[in-house]
Amino acid sequence: MFNKKLLLPLIISAALPLASAFADDAALVKDKCGTCHGADGNSEDAKVPSIAGFSAATLEDIMEQYKSGDRKGDKYTPEGGEETDMGAIAKDISKEDGSKIIAFLAEQKFKAIKQDFDETLIKSGKKLHKKKCEKCHSENGANAEDDAAIMAGQWRDYLQKEFDKIAAKERDIPKKMKKKFKKLSEDDRKALIEFYISQQ
Ligand code: HEC
Ligand code: HEC
Repeated sequence: MFNKKLLLPLIISAALPLASAFADDAALVKDKCGTCHGADGNSEDAKVPSIAGFSAATLEDIMEQYKSGDRKGDKYTPEGGEETDMGAIAKDISKEDGSKIIAFLAEQKFKAIKQDFDETLIKSGKKLHKKKCEKCHSENGANAEDDAAIMAGQWRDYLQKEFDKIAAKERDIPKKMKKKFKKLSEDDRKALIEFYISQQ
């Protein structure tokens, strides 16, 4: 028979190192990423994407792209902070901290952002999405497991900027996406963005 009185302190002491590792990782993310992306990766700034709940593989891949310069980060000055960009940030993070940060963020819940959207465009946006994008951005762009970022419920300003960069060939994307993307008109792109942000 187990002695419950003995067992409980054992369970608690076994769980303690885990709990404090979690608190350390939360503090690390808050310190290194939180000023811009929010303490748990849910951003309150329309220019900064929410990254909570992205898959670890996506986060690793994106950080690698910023680090190598394959993806150029925008210059950005957080409130009360100094101007920097994702390239400098990715280069500055140690491998060990990077792994902890990514594991923590992947565990958080992505919270769809409440913002106004143009209802008249949702239907055509959804149709375009289903035809051209759903294959890789499944669940209407909400499935983190696709390793293709989360677009459903993301900030409009951020999405608009990335759509513009991709259209202007300033951001590299997978070849198969390129083929679909280059046929979109400006109106198509607008409808897609409104559809993504309408999912709240
Ligand atoms: C000084 C502000 C700032 C800090 C600090 C910051 N970021 Fe960013 N991050 C941005 C901005 C602005 C963008 C969007 C535009 C761009 O590409 O530069 C971005 C984009 C990203 C993206 C791309 C998301 C997508 O949908 O493609 C990821 C991932 C990311 N950041 C992760 C991180 C992580 C992890 C940290 C902490 C180690 C961090 N960022 C710290 C400002 C910041
Ligand atoms: C063959 C698969 C594929 C198809 C089809 C595809 N995408 Fe993508 N998309 C990806 C992958 C993979 C990424 C992540 C790439 C990266 O970060 O470098 C991505 C990233 C993006 C991003 C950047 C998101 C962010 O937060 O950084 C946007 C915007 C986007 N896709 C829009 C679309 C739209 C709109 C369509 C349909 C017209 C589409 N994609 C079709 C695979 C695809």
